[in-house]
Amino acid sequence: MTEAVAFPQDRTCPYHPPAAYDPLREERPLSRVTLWDGRQVWMVTGHQAARALLADQRLSTDSTRGDFPLPTERATAVRRRRRAALLGWDDPEHNAQRRLLIPSFTLRRAEGLRPRIQAIVDRLLDTMEAAGPTAELVSAFALPVPSIVICELLGVPYADHEFFEEQSRRLLRGPTAADTEEALKRLEDYLGGLIDRKRTEPGDGVLDDLVARQVQEGGPDRQELVQLATILLVAGHETTANMISLGTYTLLRHPSRLAELRADPALVPAAVEELLRFLSIADGLLRVAREDVEVEGVVIRAGEGVVFSTSVINRDGSVYADPDDLDWSRPARHHVAFGFGIHQCLGQNLARMELEIALGTLLRRLPGLRLAAPAEEIPFKPGDTIQGMLELPVTW
Ligand code: HEM
Repeated sequence: MTEAVAFPQDRTCPYHPPAAYDPLREERPLSRVTLWDGRQVWMVTGHQAARALLADQRLSTDSTRGDFPLPTERATAVRRRRRAALLGWDDPEHNAQRRLLIPSFTLRRAEGLRPRIQAIVDRLLDTMEAAGPTAELVSAFALPVPSIVICELLGVPYADHEFFEEQSRRLLRGPTAADTEEALKRLEDYLGGLIDRKRTEPGDGVLDDLVARQVQEGGPDRQELVQLATILLVAGHETTANMISLGTYTLLRHPSRLAELRADPALVPAAVEELLRFLSIADGLLRVAREDVEVEGVVIRAGEGVVFSTSVINRDGSVYADPDDLDWSRPARHHVAFGFGIHQCLGQNLARMELEIALGTLLRRLPGLRLAAPAEEIPFKPGDTIQGMLELPVTW
């Protein structure tokens, strides 16, 4: 075994797994890594082991357990005391929360949003083109598309987007634990106020449905509702925004692949699936073993932390031939970019739909799209959070 490397690592190239994990790819399916507090935990790197462990309910997502592996001091300060709705709970509580939301996130519901998402994308591109021929794509397009969509779906006023995007940014990448805690509090106060108003002024969003169910038996209480609203709002815009920005950057860095897509837009859905695998933007899923668990001859002891590097897992050469190549002719479907098991992404149907429309329309409408700065100088996000571009200057 190699000496335990630190987890998480910054990526060296925004679309490849961190180079520091290269030695771990050789020792699949599991390695030891070191957390910020010096603790050693398991890092899962093999695809088969990852799916087995993510589906295994002996692994817990309860971040308030003292032995739960958290990636930074900042995250520890917040998540040790309070766990996120859904993601921080094991069954049966998790299942009760998830059941409330499943009807709002089916494939059919996502399909129903297609015309509205197309209209949002078209309008943003109209504005961007009119102000062009250069733009900063994150603020002009990648962030507003999912932000507007999730606002409309939940029933949150988009007029408040600067406020909640800022709190979400501080939550994920704030400078200190105190800053992160304050951002979470401000976001929850805001959503609590919104939920209270919805009791007397109901609308037609998912949050309005949940407020209506509060009066029914088994419905969520106010605090549960606020926490559900928080995770939906944050998960609903940050992740997809990063896939749009990093996906565009990656396509612009793979010109022959980009030309294929431009020539045949019917390839876009397969390209989105392959980009999800290739980019693995949620690169660090976290669990702790409640009991001893054996996987592929390795025993994870009760109380040991387990982290999943989705980028390394999704490049397992025993599952994907030439895994470091971007190639949409491969079947990419079994990737774990949306996780696996009971916590598998609730918003994945919506995310796929947004990505297909956003990337497909961007390429069709701006055939001359290219980077407006040297690729190596464009800043991207650090490794302790969702991966993506901080900025993306483009021209056409
Ligand atoms: C491309 C965009 C997205 C990616 C890559 C992504 C990725 C993920 C991943 C990896 C997980 C599982 C985490 C774990 O097991 O530890 C997850 C869970 C979740 N995602 Fe997404 N997500 C995306 C978009 C969305 C959207 C648009 C929503 C909309 C509301 C959403 C809502 C959620 C929720 C609520 C959970 C927790 C589910 C549970 O614990 O049952 N995500 N996501």
